[in-house]
Amino acid sequence: MKKTFRLLMLFMCMIILLPAGLQTAYAQDANSDKQQLILGTSADFPPYEFHTTIDGQDQIVGFDIEIAKAIAEKMGAELVIQDMGFDSLLPALQSGRVDIVISGMTPTEERRQSIDFSDPYYKARQVVVIRAEDTDKYKTMADLENTKLGVQKGSIQEEIAQGVPNASITSLDKIGDIVMQLETERVDALIVEDTVAAGYLNDDIVLADAVPDESESDAAIGVQKGNTELLAVINETLAELKADDRITEMVEEASLLAAGKTGDKNIFEVAWEYRSYYAKGIGYTLLLSALGVIFGFLIGLIITLVRMSGIKILAWLGTAYVEVLRGTPMLVQLMIIHYGLALVFGINLSPLQSGVITLSINSSAYLAEIFRAGIQGVDKGQMEAARSLGMTRGAALRHIILPQAMKTVLPAIGNEFITIIKESSIISVIGMMDIMYQANTVRSITYQGLSPYIIAAVIYFILTFMLSKLLGAFERKLRTSDNR
Ligand code: ARG
Repeated sequence: MKKTFRLLMLFMCMIILLPAGLQTAYAQDANSDKQQLILGTSADFPPYEFHTTIDGQDQIVGFDIEIAKAIAEKMGAELVIQDMGFDSLLPALQSGRVDIVISGMTPTEERRQSIDFSDPYYKARQVVVIRAEDTDKYKTMADLENTKLGVQKGSIQEEIAQGVPNASITSLDKIGDIVMQLETERVDALIVEDTVAAGYLNDDIVLADAVPDESESDAAIGVQKGNTELLAVINETLAELKADDRITEMVEEASLLAAGKTGDKNIFEVAWEYRSYYAKGIGYTLLLSALGVIFGFLIGLIITLVRMSGIKILAWLGTAYVEVLRGTPMLVQLMIIHYGLALVFGINLSPLQSGVITLSINSSAYLAEIFRAGIQGVDKGQMEAARSLGMTRGAALRHIILPQAMKTVLPAIGNEFITIIKESSIISVIGMMDIMYQANTVRSITYQGLSPYIIAAVIYFILTFMLSKLLGAFERKLRTSDNR
């Protein structure tokens, strides 16, 4: 029992330390002695902030980013950009995950309750965007009654849409997704800002004559409540930029950059051109899944042993662990670990750490069930025979029962590994740059709704297919050793 406990502690330490170690390994190439300014943004908002490819590399650009660079320069800090859903920006800032939010954000009264804002740096108007064939349908705002409207989640446009009588509203994280909803006729119209709409307009997607009333909105920079020091630097920088008319220039440059980025490519061209994105994604997906598998396996095994320990309270805890983890969605677990721990305990885990922990504990619950089934499937006589030979319960378990159990549950374990590879795609929502994340990035660069995902699907399939072949070969090998 003592040994099991020591092992348990060892694994726990490994789980906490390994991702941290990996992270430091990754961070080593970053400039460590320079102060960092971490910018939170939702890079789906050309020309404010958007993804583009420069020299084959994905970059987030836009006039908000230029402003951020000016602020970082003034501080003598290194700018680090974190891209996330618009809706996640406020919690990210409040929990200290980012230092500053520049995302075309309007300083509304409601938002002022939770964060502080700089002076406004840009003014925009709201417009309605529709499919070209509907131009005659939507002449005034009244024509939007009873329609389906698309808006960005958590934005002021969402509030405007809520004011349209009987409209049914679809709110999504990324503007690109909302445009896709319009293209695929799932919504009839979008409400967005004029400057941003310009980046998405083409032959099929046009501006409506209808315009929301009182449609002007400001954009300002958000900081944590009470961070007056940073706010002063920001306002000073903005004043300088405005005095030189630099912001207008930045908007023009960014709009030009945003305009020249569409183009029709077939799926093979997309796959080839953005191969470096997917390659990077494969690396992260494999790393994430491998760590998830290893820790999931170990934790699952420990839970199984704990449940079989014969100590009632431990067994009960083990069962509770399995039931809770199996009975809640992995996405919810991820949010609790990544954002919840940061908000309540100030534990700021990196996306890799949160991802590995979530995947491991989630799969450990399923694996624990698989192990239990396997162990229960081993004939009782085996334990009796081992004990009558003088083995202790633990030794019998280790040398007689577990090896047999593992062999019978191997296919089920293999299935679980394949599941982990696929499920790891969920971790992309917190900014883990895996295959799914890269597919989203490629989509936001190419404006193609389908091919980036087909490419991702093909890659996931190849990975899982190879794994299942590998496991099959392993099983066959075990079987031949049986026949001897
Ligand atoms: N100005 C609007 C708001 O504050 C929309 C901003 C959306 N920004 C973005 N990067 N998607 O609600």
